[in-house]
Parts: sequence; C-alpha cells; structure tokens
Amino acid sequence: MSTRVPARPDGSFPVAGRPPSVTAAHPSVTRWAKTYRELPQEAAVTVLHFDSPMSDDERRERLFAGDLFVYSPTPHSMALIAFARQMTETAFAPHFPPEAQHHLAGPDYVRVLADLKPSFINHPRSAELVRGLLSDLGADPAQTYFDVPRLRSMTSEYLNAGLTLQFESHRDTWFSAPMSQLNFWLPVYDVVESNVMAFHPGYFHTGVRNSSRDYNYAEWVAHGRTAAAAQVHAETRRQPGLEQELEGEPDLRVVTPPGGVLVFSGAQLHTTVPNTSGRTRFSIDFRAVNLADVRARAGARNVDSECTGTTLGDFRRATDLTPLPAELVESYDTVPA
Ligand SMILES: [Fe+2]
Repeated sequence: MSTRVPARPDGSFPVAGRPPSVTAAHPSVTRWAKTYRELPQEAAVTVLHFDSPMSDDERRERLFAGDLFVYSPTPHSMALIAFARQMTETAFAPHFPPEAQHHLAGPDYVRVLADLKPSFINHPRSAELVRGLLSDLGADPAQTYFDVPRLRSMTSEYLNAGLTLQFESHRDTWFSAPMSQLNFWLPVYDVVESNVMAFHPGYFHTGVRNSSRDYNYAEWVAHGRTAAAAQVHAETRRQPGLEQELEGEPDLRVVTPPGGVLVFSGAQLHTTVPNTSGRTRFSIDFRAVNLADVRARAGARNVDSECTGTTLGDFRRATDLTPLPAELVESYDTVPA
C-alpha cells in the first residue's frame, strides 16, 4: 500500500520509483518486483494486461503501480453500449451519431447533446449496467463504490476545435479524486488512434508542475452553481492544468472494439488527443473505488497532486447505491490552506 508523497522543501517532488510496500503485498507482485529491481531505477515498466484472470485485489495493486488493463467486451459492457447507442441514435435520428456532426448546424448539435448526456448519466439503467459490468470484471459489489457513468463525445474538427479543453493533459487526482480511484473507459462505436485518449506512462512515477494547488472540489461545485445561477455561459472556472512542457511522445493509445473496457489509475497522466478522424467519438467512462483502499489510504503514489477536498461524496456502493460512510468522506475533505 502506498502513501502520499510530500513535496520537498523547494516544492519539487521526488522522482518516484515503485512504492516499496507494493512489493510486500502479494506473492505474485513480489515475483514481479524482483524482476523490476533488476532493471535500472529509472526504467519503470508499464504492463498492459489483456483479458487478465487476475483477482480484483491484485489488479488494483497493479493499477496503483501504473499498469493498464484491457478487457474484451463483457455481457454488461455490451448492454451498456447498446443502451447508449439506443439513446444516442434516437437523439440524433435520422443521422448516425458518429457522422451527425456533418449534418447539423452547431447550435442544433449542441442542443441534442445538452439533452442526451444528462439523460444517460441520470438514467437508472445506466447505473444498473455499470454495477453488472463491475461484477463481470470481478469487482466485489459490496466493497466497490462508483460514480455515475458519463457519456462523452469528442467531435472531429468541429465545434470544439481549437479549444484547449480538448487537448489538456491531466491526472484525475488533480481534481480531488482519491489516489485509489480507478477509471473505466469504453468506446460506444468503433474508435481509431486519432480519436481515443493518450497515456503518458513515463510520468506515472514522475511529478510534473501543475496548478492543482488551486483546486478544491467543493469550491468548484459551489462556484459552478453560482455561475450557473448567474447564467454565465463561458467557462471561467480555473481547472488544474500543466505548468510545464510535457514530453508527450511517445504516448500510448489503446484501441478496443466497442464495449471493450480499459481500466487505469486516476493518477495516470492522460490527454484527449485532437480528433482528426472525421468521426465523432462517443465513449462511456466511470470511476470506482474499493472501500478497503479508501479506509487504508491505499492507492497510486502521489507524485504531484496538491489539490484539496474530495470527490468521494459522489460515489455509491454497487450493491445498494448507498454512499461511503460520511466520516470517511469527511476525513478526505481537506480545505485549502
Ligand atoms: Fe481524465
């Protein structure tokens, strides 16, 4: 189990290797760690596990150490994308959703999405299918808490072209996510390398300068509500971002068939690549945590997140949708200095 890594007095962060305690956690990790120790210190390895039979406990350890997991479509992932397709195709009818951007005027397109996304996010069937998907992947529903699944779209050189939001590199942990957060991502239609996301695994163990110190989730939500009430349409709220140049390449991109599932740590540095495919990408993602990890403060090593607050209040248990214990959430809910 790893712990948060404080900044050095000069504000820099140590270059992180594998957290030593990870090597003591599971016999198989110990075996693997022995191999790792034979590598030069800086040669961190990112393993991409495909359809791994690994247990959820061991998988979380590996995810916290920077590995990625990819799964072939499961019964519930297929049901989830079928449900998303049904809603999306109804919303964009008569157009095929990935092509609809070529047939609709900007304001009409935005109106469709503005209705579609919250409908999917808040639909009880979406949550029900996520619960099924977590079980398909071997997560214990009594220990696993998840946030609502989001339906995302990324148009190709249309509407949002040029907006930095599309390209920004970040870790979810800069946004008050716990270090134990796992992200699940699945494409709704076929994707290609030019409309998925890019990982920068070289930075998993190495901090980058970023503005997460200015971010507090509760403040952001409160400010957002005020802004919405004041009918402010422009996005003026500051979100954490890079404060240095990134050596973004080579990056790592995972292309799965629709319903294939990519699982990664919320501490992975990732970027939504500029979509030049000519087709809008539709994808579903959600976040999950394991209660034991939250209690033990387990998770990826914190190499550079300085935000305060927590998103844990948004997570619901997979069995009965109850929230995490309030005192546990409060223990994470730090306030800005
Ligand atoms: Fe993200």
